[in-house]
Amino acid sequence: MSSQTGSHKDVSEKHLPSAQDSTAVAEVDENPFADPGIPHHEPRVQDIDERAAKRSERTVAMFFIVSMLATIAFIASFVAFPVDKIFYLFPLGHISALNFSLGLSLGIALFCIGAGAVHWSRTLMSGEEHVQERHPIAASPETKAAAIEEFSQGAADSGLGRRKLIRNTMIGALALVPLSGVVLLRDLGPLPEDKLRRTMWKKGLRLINQNTGEPLRPEDITVGSLVFAKPDGLEDDSHEFMHEIAKAALMLVRLEPKDIKDKQELDWSHEGIVAYSKICTHVGCPVSLYEQQTHHVLCPCHQSTFDLTDGARVIFGPAGHPLPQLNINVNNDGELVAEGDFAEPVGPSFWERG
Ligand code: FES
Repeated sequence: MSSQTGSHKDVSEKHLPSAQDSTAVAEVDENPFADPGIPHHEPRVQDIDERAAKRSERTVAMFFIVSMLATIAFIASFVAFPVDKIFYLFPLGHISALNFSLGLSLGIALFCIGAGAVHWSRTLMSGEEHVQERHPIAASPETKAAAIEEFSQGAADSGLGRRKLIRNTMIGALALVPLSGVVLLRDLGPLPEDKLRRTMWKKGLRLINQNTGEPLRPEDITVGSLVFAKPDGLEDDSHEFMHEIAKAALMLVRLEPKDIKDKQELDWSHEGIVAYSKICTHVGCPVSLYEQQTHHVLCPCHQSTFDLTDGARVIFGPAGHPLPQLNINVNNDGELVAEGDFAEPVGPSFWERG
């Protein structure tokens, strides 16, 4: 330990500079850290030429006017384009006309406000360079007073009061942009009233296999398989497909009748085939994971688990209600048909059930 200390001391002494060295080092050290000061202020063309300043003023105003027009275009898009209008745009492919026009117009509106403000500050606001020395975080009353004075001076330099064209167009642009948010409220309505309580299912309507498009027969559904079905007449490429399938999506499973514990479930089944809504009663994800051994179905979103042998009762997870069951039968052609609509609303259980 002592030898280590001694060795450090030797090295320190060996590298101690002489008086001559110290002067040289001081000179070398001084220059890299010398304060270069503020460069000479070069006035901009707008500072010395009033016509150039006017040109910049018109440019800034043009940005704000374009922003206003883009905001009006944003609002007009809501009226002009139906929600389901699709068009082709290279290289993006098929896109929603409404989403495209909303995104484009709002982007232009916001960009032009930013571009106008930047151009204004770079060409017309004061271009004087200032040095602000570091100071303690808590400002003294004098510093605060100086800051307020500087702020007032900055406001005066910006010409907000003097350049009325810029001020008025900027106020117009800033006042119109929030209207974009107001028209978005349209998407909250109209209220669904009782549309969510009814589905396409009605007495005698055939169950169509969603994969093959063929009417389902009892012999198509074997023990251990999970089959998805849609109402007869609902074509995949039709306008109303997404609206209707979101409520009417159905899953069918064949159980041993002796395994069915719930009496109504047994009455509403056909030869052990039970049909349940595929829409999770938590927040509406499609329930699709079927466990053959236990006859449990699992929702992949938040793991709600339903027992298909017991009226699709919830045995785990956040869902608040069993999956609604569809009463099924067969018609004279031996095809599976509905006996009516679901007895209760499908999907999320945030509304009252009868
Ligand atoms: S949506 Fe099914 S568990 Fe949440």
